[in-house]
Amino acid sequence: MSAGKRILLIIAGGIAAYKALDVIRRGRERGLNFRVILTKGGAEFVTPLSVASLAGSKAYTELFSLTDEAEMGHIRLVREADLVLVAPATADIIAKMANGLADDLASTALLANDKPVLIAPSMNVVMWRHPAVQANVATLRARGVVTVGPGAGDLACGEVGDGRLAEPLDIVNAALRLLSPGPLTGLKALVTSGPTYEAIDPVRFIGNRSSGKQGHAIAAALAAAGAETILVTGPTALADPAGCIVHHIESAAEMLAKVQQSLPVDIAVAAAAVSDWRPVQEAGQKMKKREGGAPPRIELATNPDILATISAPGPKRPRLVIGFAAETEKVIEHATAKRQKKQCDWILANDVSSGTGTFGGADNKVHVITAQGAEEWPRLSKTELAERLVARIAENLKGTKS
Ligand code: C5P
Repeated sequence: MSAGKRILLIIAGGIAAYKALDVIRRGRERGLNFRVILTKGGAEFVTPLSVASLAGSKAYTELFSLTDEAEMGHIRLVREADLVLVAPATADIIAKMANGLADDLASTALLANDKPVLIAPSMNVVMWRHPAVQANVATLRARGVVTVGPGAGDLACGEVGDGRLAEPLDIVNAALRLLSPGPLTGLKALVTSGPTYEAIDPVRFIGNRSSGKQGHAIAAALAAAGAETILVTGPTALADPAGCIVHHIESAAEMLAKVQQSLPVDIAVAAAAVSDWRPVQEAGQKMKKREGGAPPRIELATNPDILATISAPGPKRPRLVIGFAAETEKVIEHATAKRQKKQCDWILANDVSSGTGTFGGADNKVHVITAQGAEEWPRLSKTELAERLVARIAENLKGTKS
């Protein structure tokens, strides 16, 4: 259990630093203990006194403090923690972590650390999207650092977009998940989700109505069960699920490239609604309407089948590959044939004939098709279905760790 676990919280200098106080409060309500390092910037936004009052222990700020170093050196701060949490993680501290700088107490403690690290990035949207920040975050993720958020919405700087600190409770829950190993801890999972957009020209595309709700819920449930989870998603209105490494793509070709880069994994779930076709050629400029002219003819090419590519035998084939089949008639029969054709292990088949409300809806009703036959699951919310699927995956992989 995670009660009594110790978190070393590093509060860096961002406007969202005040929310770190709520992280401490909510974490303590759930039995977590906190020691806190305030960076110089962090101390501009919240005071050591408010931190100490909430954390129940002093806030550490100085690397070169005789008293602090004698009482509780930077090495002891990390040795005595079960998890290091950086919230808010600013562009600056992310850059320091990625590059191994150690010029203050926080960065030195992070470099001396061998415990799991969770960061909750928060910054202006343009900063967050800057290639330098994205490259640093990718470096950290490749080293096993887990991110929670950022979310999208109104930013304190007045702009709108991604960059908002994840909600304090989501941060605490992500920390709790990292602290308590789940049934899939030590395994790697890959999920595709959402639609793909196939460009006709710079402004037009061929897409579909997939909301990404089911795929995102599965990625969240896999991460919650302890799997290191990579989500490759087309454009959706959803926030990135906590604890996942998320790659945003648009086209099927981009999805396939990211999927292939992510292999090998233990578990793959293809929930994306990949467009079957793409325009053979994307026009370089917006296609113009010509007065009285005929509408353009768009020649289509067939997209690669990502699920079939993942499922093909080979050294990188995951141990368990799960696909979806949206059918409007003879659901079990068609899905069983699809399982064989695509060579995946399980297919979750759903009836999407009109009136079922599956597309974009909050719940789902599936038949699970395996080599042993078909099993009917009750109508469940997409979150419940994801949890049930993950429990089933854990049961299937139990004792077969490679
Ligand atoms: O062939 P169909 O589109 O019905 O198959 C659905 C399943 O195959 C889903 O799991 C979907 O994610 C996957 N798929 C894929 N790449 C495609 C088409 C479908 O991964 N190009």
